[in-house]
Amino acid sequence: MGQLSDINKAVSLLREGQLVAIPTETVYGLAANAFSDKAVAKIYETKNRPANNPLIVHIHSMEQLDQIAVNIPEQARLLAGHFWPGPLTLVLEKSPKVSEQVTAGKPTVAVRMPDHEVTLALLRKLDFPLVAPSANRSNHISPTRPEHVRNSLGDRTPFILEGGQCTKGIESTIVGFENDMPVIYRLGTISESDIEQVLGRPVTIASSHTTSVVTPGMFKKHYSPKTPFLATSDIEMEINRHSGKTIGVIFFREPEASAREYPYRVLSATGDYKEAAAKLYSTMHELDQLHLDLILAELLPDDGVGASVNDRMTRASSV
Ligand code: TXA
Ligand code: MG
Repeated sequence: MGQLSDINKAVSLLREGQLVAIPTETVYGLAANAFSDKAVAKIYETKNRPANNPLIVHIHSMEQLDQIAVNIPEQARLLAGHFWPGPLTLVLEKSPKVSEQVTAGKPTVAVRMPDHEVTLALLRKLDFPLVAPSANRSNHISPTRPEHVRNSLGDRTPFILEGGQCTKGIESTIVGFENDMPVIYRLGTISESDIEQVLGRPVTIASSHTTSVVTPGMFKKHYSPKTPFLATSDIEMEINRHSGKTIGVIFFREPEASAREYPYRVLSATGDYKEAAAKLYSTMHELDQLHLDLILAELLPDDGVGASVNDRMTRASSV
């Protein structure tokens, strides 16, 4: 019963224009009524988010999609049909119903149908969609558990609709279309080849050099822990190089047996990329609590979801 009364409480708060932290399969979101500019403004304020960084609209049905976007390309419908509900965000031509505040003045809108039963139940009870960026202060690591939301937002933490630990663990894959060509703006647990398989054609991964659609999420420095952080493909070399410091280490797989005198965590003993993605942020949050001089993280092989995990580790790197 706890959950149902919590969902009802979230419904009331959102109807009043308040914020609520919501669970999704990727990371926790900081949600507001997408059709209320006043509510949306609170998101920017609470996160210290720059006004030029647009938000993702969360929906529960394909009917709702038609209130948000217009001239939806067939390729987008194909991807939605295949991956929704799930960790895929589509960038589409915005409907006039969506305010410039949501899209930061862009003619496009980002939209996704999250795969979390608590949040889907919430969305079904509301007669408006929800905008939700990750529920952390700007430039912090995204939250994958309720306590991460509290740690990052502190006294600005709103009501948290609890939904356990996020199963995917990194933010959604973002796909848009430029001159009818599919372009990936952010990698998540849906990989480049997953998209290519559904569309039956090659896709481009955008970089600030190849696209005119640069958004702040594409800038390098992002998602940092407070502790200095370094991602590397030669972890043993970096461990030796920093032996005079209090370090913590994030290994991809179980390291070879040897005396390890520093705290370390393993993302996936079996070398599974998706398990590594699911554990990455909670591991970073954990080591960030230990007051270390430096966190070293071992990069994954750079293919499939390994590339997505590496993208987040590289963005977190501060040294
Ligand atoms: O998994 C997720 O996507 C999570 C959960 C809560 O759904 N949300 C999330 O939101 O990661 P946020 O705000 O942290 O990241 C949204 C990204 C930003 O990089 C933003 O620049 C990009 O989406 N974005 C939003 N609208 C866009 C648009 N019209 N064109 C291109 N990029 C857009
Ligand atoms: Mg974010």
